[in-house]
Amino acid sequence: MMAAIALLLVTSAPAFAAKKAKAPAVPAGPDYQGALNAAYAKFKDLHEGKNADYIPALAEVDPNIFGIALVTVDGKVYATGDTSSKVSIQSISKVFTMAKVMEEQGPDAIANNMGVDATGQAFNSIVAVEQYKGAEMNAMVNPGAITATSMVSGGSREEIWNKILACYSDFAGRPLAVNEPVFKSEAETNQRNQAIAMLMFAYGHIKANPLQACDIYTEQCAVNVNAKDLAEMAATLANGGKNPVTAKQCMNTANVPRVLAVMATAGLYDDSGKWLFMTGLPAKSGVGGGILAVCPGKFGIAVVSPPLDGAGNSVKAQKAIAEVSNTLGANPYAPKPAAMATAAKK
Ligand code: DON
Repeated sequence: MMAAIALLLVTSAPAFAAKKAKAPAVPAGPDYQGALNAAYAKFKDLHEGKNADYIPALAEVDPNIFGIALVTVDGKVYATGDTSSKVSIQSISKVFTMAKVMEEQGPDAIANNMGVDATGQAFNSIVAVEQYKGAEMNAMVNPGAITATSMVSGGSREEIWNKILACYSDFAGRPLAVNEPVFKSEAETNQRNQAIAMLMFAYGHIKANPLQACDIYTEQCAVNVNAKDLAEMAATLANGGKNPVTAKQCMNTANVPRVLAVMATAGLYDDSGKWLFMTGLPAKSGVGGGILAVCPGKFGIAVVSPPLDGAGNSVKAQKAIAEVSNTLGANPYAPKPAAMATAAKK
């Protein structure tokens, strides 16, 4: 009997050792770089849309700039195409000024002033202001955005501006700067926004200095960014307000879902519903050609490509982000996004 047991131990020992050596491999995470490369290849030769030209300097920007960047919540950066050329941030700035106001006054200050509802109208619609006297709209369209800029506290224009620029720079993880020719070009041609600011003042949403608010808003729209900056800004929102590359907490985590809700509602203006239907991702576009999108808890993604569709949203950026998001199974409304579920297990 003892001999039999000894024999069993001796013969089974190598088998046990062999089993241990064959431990199952850890499943690979999502192929972010592969998804970016595939989307770039698919859309690089697409020539639809047209640069914005109602701001004369934007018509001069190279329409062939096309870059895609993705930053994960653990700070990994993936990029393809032209991610170093800069464009003006334009309306994407509205997200971060709204976030700043939420930081200073709480999210209800936004909800109770310009509101958090879709207008179904163009981003610079005056009809949308008239409908509810400047309420029941949102901080992603020009009237709500100029009002949000007017709500940033400060004793002087310089103090307000420095706060806004510092806020954007924290989200982007590097010191950002203004594209002066774009600022000048828009400042010379922004009479419609000045009228909108005066209307929001007349209806009591802007409390003082409406033309100063419009001027600061115009300057914030002229901040220069590349695709990687925008992706890092989006990743900071995906990561609860903490920049995953620099580890700086840029905003209160509790306010992040409020910011994302307004982006989902109105980030692509009157096409926000179509966008959400396709991707499920809160996003924001700018007439400079950038779009950023947030996959909460996973990553931020951004594309820069100046030609726009009729609603003012970059054609290639919409297509490329939707493609990457669908490849990765990143729609937060999907019951079990395959590739992202693998990432969560890791
Ligand atoms: O106020 C404007 O018209 C521009 N500075 C920003 C508009 C914009 O980016 C709309 N976005 N798609």
